[in-house]
Amino acid sequence: MLRRVLADAKALYAAPGGGKPAVVSMDAFRVLAVQRARESARRWRVPGAPHALRIVQTAVFGIEIGNDVQIGTGVYFIHPIGITIGGDAKIGDRVRFFGNNTVGTAKENGYPTIGDDVVIGAGARILGPIHIGDRAVIGANAVVLEDIPADAVAVGMPAKVVRQLGQNDDPVALAYGAST
Ligand SMILES: CC(C)(COP(=O)(O)OP(=O)(O)OC[C@H]1O[C@@H](n2cnc3c(N)ncnc32)[C@H](O)[C@@H]1OP(=O)(O)O)[C@@H](O)C(=O)NCCC(=O)NCCS
Repeated sequence: MLRRVLADAKALYAAPGGGKPAVVSMDAFRVLAVQRARESARRWRVPGAPHALRIVQTAVFGIEIGNDVQIGTGVYFIHPIGITIGGDAKIGDRVRFFGNNTVGTAKENGYPTIGDDVVIGAGARILGPIHIGDRAVIGANAVVLEDIPADAVAVGMPAKVVRQLGQNDDPVALAYGAST
């Protein structure tokens, strides 16, 4: 568990806009620390602990993460409030959530897999057994119901790809409105 927490801290420290100098003061770090404790408690079958930690995570940070969800290293919950991730969704490394997001099923037909370094705008919903490619950017309030390729920018309801990022484009800068 400690190794995972340290890897999360390192990734969040290095993240653009991340926790320099005090990673431990970031909500994102605290959410992940509780998450790693939940994972350990499950692995070691500590009675009652996974459930209690889940309640703590939701009560303190306003985020709900299902028991079977896989959360990659350094996932950055910028504003954890209102985020729900359900079922057996898989979240890649360094994915960035702006807040009030849902990653869940569309029609009880499965859960999303999200690649590494994806940026998910505020209010966006990602639903169904779909795949979001590495470094994709999902616009604010998008409702994503189909696969999104790597390096694509998708917006709207239902979300459509409006742009493909080049090698020198920075998805994080783009989401913050910087020119790329
Ligand atoms: C999607 C986003 C990254 C911009 O990407 P971009 O490639 O620079 O897109 P552009 O601004 O060039 O817009 C391309 C088109 O998509 C539209 N668009 C952009 N963002 C949109 C959104 N969130 N929803 C719907 N349409 C959107 C634009 O109006 C434009 O449409 P047009 O071609 O008909 O004029 C940005 O708008 C966004 O949603 N960022 C997330 C920011 C966020 O969540 N902030 C919360 C901070 S707490």
